Amino acid sequence: MEVIIQPNQEAAASLVARIVAKELRANPHLVLGLATGKTMERVYRHLVRMHKEEKLDFSLCSTFNLDEYVGLFPSDPNSYRHYMEHHLFRHVNVDPRNTHLPNGLATDLDEECRRYEAMIQRFGGIDLQLLGIGKAGHIGFNEPLSALRSRTRVKALTPTTMKQNAPSFGGEEKMPRRAITMGVGTILECRRCLLLATGDTKAEVVAKAVEGPITSMISATTLQLHARCSVIVDEEAASHLKEKDYYRWIFANEPEWDEFR
Ligand code: F6R
Repeated sequence: MEVIIQPNQEAAASLVARIVAKELRANPHLVLGLATGKTMERVYRHLVRMHKEEKLDFSLCSTFNLDEYVGLFPSDPNSYRHYMEHHLFRHVNVDPRNTHLPNGLATDLDEECRRYEAMIQRFGGIDLQLLGIGKAGHIGFNEPLSALRSRTRVKALTPTTMKQNAPSFGGEEKMPRRAITMGVGTILECRRCLLLATGDTKAEVVAKAVEGPITSMISATTLQLHARCSVIVDEEAASHLKEKDYYRWIFANEPEWDEFR
């Protein structure tokens, strides 16, 4: 795992977008794993700008989102399909047929989860997966106690997640209580992971995810098992990390990061 500390939210999101752009330019057929949430909005703004100003080409890439609520129509403003259309898909030249989210309206949800996993396999697996982190440490909707080898499945949302996401629904009572999410095992199989966390509300959980013991209670800690995972944070989200100087030293000295400094 690598930790990269950027001065502010904007710089952190810009770095994530520049890494995505570099991977996409190197491999136009990139299979890109996407996340939703407030933190990712800035990343998508940068990618849209790069598409418009720098001709970043999405025409051959495919996308797979981490998760989708159960029971929401794609047209529902709170569905993740709607989020993705609004923040990214409709502004870039990705082929809509190559954009994938789990179908939270499927009559057989277990079958839908198996279909989603099979589809990821059919596309050759995910090359680069974007991740946010919930206040309780989830990645995707892998809530506390998610098995380290879990696959795409339906999960009940925890009270912490309900509270975190309720404002956009206008209250917890209007919110779905379940979501389909890629599993921890699914995420760990992606060839590269980029986790972005910003703001002081994430500081405590980021420190646990990076410097704490691996535990199914905090699914982000399992990224310590991943061979190629970068955690990109702003100063606020980094504030509880003990080894900040070490992380800064690595970022300053690793040739891989020359072009991103
Ligand atoms: C959403 C997802 C979640 C979010 C996380 C952070 O697709 O996978 O794990 O990334 O809840 O959300 P924000 O950025 O809103 O704090």
